[in-house]
Amino acid sequence: MTDFGYWRKRSEEYEGKYSNPERVLDYEKRHRLDAALNMADVPASGVVVDIGVGSGELFNRLEGHTEAERVGVDFSRDIILAASGDDSTARYVQGDGGSLPLATDSVDLLFCLGVVGHIGRDGLEDLITEIARVLRPGGQLLFSFANSASPFRKLRNRYVRLRNGSPSDYDEYDPRRIVELLSDCGLSVEISRYLTYATGLVNTPLNIELYKLLDDYCDECSVLSRLAMTWVVRATRDSSSNR
Ligand SMILES: C[S@@+](CC[C@H](N)C(=O)[O-])C[C@H]1O[C@@H](n2cnc3c(N)ncnc32)[C@H](O)[C@@H]1O
Repeated sequence: MTDFGYWRKRSEEYEGKYSNPERVLDYEKRHRLDAALNMADVPASGVVVDIGVGSGELFNRLEGHTEAERVGVDFSRDIILAASGDDSTARYVQGDGGSLPLATDSVDLLFCLGVVGHIGRDGLEDLITEIARVLRPGGQLLFSFANSASPFRKLRNRYVRLRNGSPSDYDEYDPRRIVELLSDCGLSVEISRYLTYATGLVNTPLNIELYKLLDDYCDECSVLSRLAMTWVVRATRDSSSNR
């Protein structure tokens, strides 16, 4: 189940558009968006959807690069109001990813980035089923999730527990489970990218430099790649899959 209170509290964070060069969190999020955009084949026309739009930053970056209709979905009314106030060229709709207000087989490209950390395992299954429903055959999904096998993430969790006195409530997933779930819904994973290594504990330029260094290495070293904190995958809906 999605934690509505949690997201409401955090909605202010998304106004900053990840623009502070000294915030590790901003670097992480920007880097995730960059990776997803680089991996996507953005169609010249059709429909592009972003589930969990946050600040609407992804659509801002797509502006001028495609004639496709851009539809942002987020269950937070505050976030929808803020994003639509900033960008009148896209359509923003309040809705739950687990029950998308979109027609079957209607979407060419769908982004779902930084969303599944707080929706729980049942929520995840509903979300992926819905994504598969709305994607047209051959349509593409760019999806990110926290890697439960990452030692960097374990380190970060330990720090969070020390600092807050309670464990992190961020949902993490075994990448094999995600690939399996996607495949059960008729989506084939084609490319995976692995991001963000450092512990993310300290907002210093040095820490950000460490991130960049490790991210550069990860493309070349498959063992290191698999340990990364965040995965971004690109999957395509099989043309032959049955409903
Ligand atoms: C961490 S932000 C990610 C923003 C952006 N996608 C990014 O990658 O930077 C998560 C967003 O997902 C939204 N969200 C969380 N659960 C959702 C759900 N079940 N359906 C729709 N939106 C959801 C939250 O309101 C929030 O705007």
